[in-house]
Amino acid sequence: MRFAIRFGLLAALVWTGPAAAGERSLLLKGGGAEQRFTASELLARPDAAEVRVPEDVAFAQTRTYRAVPLLSLLPGVPEPFDTLEGRALDGFAAQIPLSLLRGAASGGSVAWLAVEPPGQPWPNLPGQTVGPGPFYLVWEGPERSGVTKEQWPYQLASLTAVESPAHRWPQLVVDASLPPDAAARRGQQQFAAACLSCHRLKGGGMAEVGPDLGEPMNAVDYMTPQGLRALVRDPKSVRTWPQQQMPGFSAEELPDADLDAVIAYLQHVARRKDAAGGGLHSAR
Ligand code: HEC
Repeated sequence: MRFAIRFGLLAALVWTGPAAAGERSLLLKGGGAEQRFTASELLARPDAAEVRVPEDVAFAQTRTYRAVPLLSLLPGVPEPFDTLEGRALDGFAAQIPLSLLRGAASGGSVAWLAVEPPGQPWPNLPGQTVGPGPFYLVWEGPERSGVTKEQWPYQLASLTAVESPAHRWPQLVVDASLPPDAAARRGQQQFAAACLSCHRLKGGGMAEVGPDLGEPMNAVDYMTPQGLRALVRDPKSVRTWPQQQMPGFSAEELPDADLDAVIAYLQHVARRKDAAGGGLHSAR
């Protein structure tokens, strides 16, 4: 779960253009095609259904939504796209493997696009003055495929079929010479799943919620492994200020071994001389 203090400003910027025409919409992009859906259009679809979410990530309680099966909005995504990038109004950018969405066909978790009904706003998020609308990706049976908290993007503005983070940003990839069981190698996966939705690394990534952890200085060069561990578990145990946004990760969400792997990965990327970062900053 994350905190979205900048929603108000961004919402104003994003919606003043098209909003003049009325309803807010979700942009779907992939394979050169582009389509906008309004909430009313989505709710009128024959496959829209009531979905009960027992452990809703945004609200930390049971919620029920009107929702559309996400895969039905993404017919035939062409190669080489293997990832769905969900970008939120506050700069959060989830990178969800399409294989995770497609696992539904073989008994895995099912992704639904929850749609805020026009005129019936969802409640505000706990402790915040905004809700998760207008669009929110929720999961049925998240435990069946090990869906993480960062894979429930809310306040969605767009969903885009893209290549995997490792293909788009070579600076995120560990050196090929590392042994297959190297901690840094596993850390790359963990970082992409847990951190990349909010942080860039050496310019790699799309998120704009937290700082780049490799530029201008590597976080591992001014924080000790001990301090980093404490910060990821509970940011407020390291420092506090009123606008603090980073959520802590429990040992259940990110086991100690995985957290150590993330730190080994950050150290690996920081130490490497040929850091591909320079010329490859993602264009926006
Ligand atoms: C939901 C968004 C979010 C996620 C996910 C997230 N962070 Fe953060 N992080 C932030 C924000 C925002 C800050 C800036 C401080 C603040 O507002 O809390 C931050 C700050 C940090 C800092 C301190 C940087 C500095 O110079 O002070 C580190 C280190 C860090 N995050 C590491 C991580 C790691 C490692 C992960 C993954 C395990 C992670 N973060 C996941 C949002 C996030």
